[in-house]
Amino acid sequence: MNRLDVIQALMRQKDLKNYLEIGVENGHIFFRIKSSFKVAVDPNFMFDTSRRIGKTLINPYNLTNQYFEKTSDDFFAQDAPSVFSQKKIQLALVDGMHEYQFALRDVENTLNYMGNEGVIIMHDCNPQTQGAAGRFEDWETGEWNGDVWKTVIHLRSQRPDLNVFVLDCDQGLGIVTRKQAGDAGPPSVALEPAPVFAPADINALTYDSLVKNRNKWLDLKPASFFYDYFGLQK
Ligand SMILES: C[S@@+](CC[C@H](N)C(=O)[O-])C[C@H]1O[C@@H](n2cnc3c(N)ncnc32)[C@H](O)[C@@H]1O
Repeated sequence: MNRLDVIQALMRQKDLKNYLEIGVENGHIFFRIKSSFKVAVDPNFMFDTSRRIGKTLINPYNLTNQYFEKTSDDFFAQDAPSVFSQKKIQLALVDGMHEYQFALRDVENTLNYMGNEGVIIMHDCNPQTQGAAGRFEDWETGEWNGDVWKTVIHLRSQRPDLNVFVLDCDQGLGIVTRKQAGDAGPPSVALEPAPVFAPADINALTYDSLVKNRNKWLDLKPASFFYDYFGLQK
């Protein structure tokens, strides 16, 4: 299972259509989404007009895409109020700058424009090596997921109004939803109690400490938990 499977299952079975993607790159995921309300944000799109046209011929939903070639911080400061004035975000893929504070701002800003039933998917939440798990300035070579895992810990420990867990697939897909009445639910969808950290301490957490506490801190779930949590057909 990967992020596209998760997005498509939620769109088809939960009817969540209004889509925001932060960090789009070449549009590998974005152009495949079938929705007439899609918003792309990236300071450096890796596609040109001819690719946009080609992708529209393959998937006509791309005709109504809205593109913002800027950082997500600028997008939320300058454009989001008007873009989401009529339609709230129902699904968001947060996949921009993969650092703790950047991803945290992206999630918090997205929540400001997201309806109660909305879902945020965060990519790269479960790094497998120390080299992949740090800040961009410390990255040397190979896979880089960044320290988005700290954003997950932050949200789990500081936002009791949210449910946050990580699916163990596709580099770790963080799932963020608003808590709903009756969320205690059956044991099959139970979530781990959140870790308790002051925000100031989260930045200092090391990769070694993540390795020792991965399941608990991230609330790492098998990919199949996705279907149980949202009550979807496999
Ligand atoms: C891993 S790629 C995204 C991949 C894409 N979501 C996919 O699934 O195929 C990360 C992207 O984030 C973009 N990015 C970097 N800093 C950003 C920022 N401050 N705001 C928004 N996007 C940013 C980069 O330009 C890059 O294209």
